[in-house]
Amino acid sequence: MDLEAKKIALRKIPHGVYVVGVKQDSQVNAFTATWLTQVSFTPPLVAVGMRKDTLSFKMVEADKVFSVNILGKEHKPLVEHFVKPATVAGEKLKDVPYRLGKTGAPILEDAIAYVECEVREIANRLGDHAVVIGEVIEAGVRSKDAPALTLMDTGWHYGG
Ligand SMILES: Cc1cc2nc3c(=O)[nH]c(=O)nc-3n(C[C@H](O)[C@H](O)[C@H](O)COP(=O)(O)O)c2cc1C
Repeated sequence: MDLEAKKIALRKIPHGVYVVGVKQDSQVNAFTATWLTQVSFTPPLVAVGMRKDTLSFKMVEADKVFSVNILGKEHKPLVEHFVKPATVAGEKLKDVPYRLGKTGAPILEDAIAYVECEVREIANRLGDHAVVIGEVIEAGVRSKDAPALTLMDTGWHYGG
C-alpha cells in the first residue's frame, strides 16, 4: 500500500469536531472528538472512536454514558482547550460553563446543540481506539440555525 495515499485519502473523509462529555461517579471530564457519527435511526445510535489510553475512555467504560456537544463556528478555542489530556491539564471543565445532563454527563453552555447517550456496546478488541456505541436518550438545541464547527474549519487533522 502507498502509505501517503492512505493518509491523504483517509484525511479527505469529512468530519465534524465535537466536545464529548463523560463522567465517573462525581467526576466529570470532556475531550475533543472527531471520529463520531450516527449509525442507526431506530434506536438512534451514535458511534464514537475513543482512544483507549485516555482518562475519558476509562470513565466511559465505568459509567457507560457520554454527551456530544456540537459547537458553533466561533468555538475553535473551546475545542482546542479540550484536546489537552486530563493527566496534563487537570480539571478541564473548571473554568468552562456547563451543567449536568440527564445522564450526569456535562453539557457545555456554549453548545449549539447536544445529545446524551447511554453506552450499548463497546468494540475494543482492535486498534488504538475503541468504537463506543451509544443510544441517544436526550437531546437539546440552543441555536437551531447555527452551522456546526467542522474539522476542516479548524485546519487540523486527526486521521490518516
Ligand atoms: C482534531 C482532534 C480530533 C480528535 N478526535 C478524537 C477522537 O475522535 N477520539 C479520541 O479518542 N480522541 C480524539 N482526539 C484526541 C483527544 O482529544 C485527546 O486524546 C484528549 O487529550 C483526551 O482527553 P482526556 O485525557 O481528558 O481523556 C482528537 C484530538 C484532536 C486534536
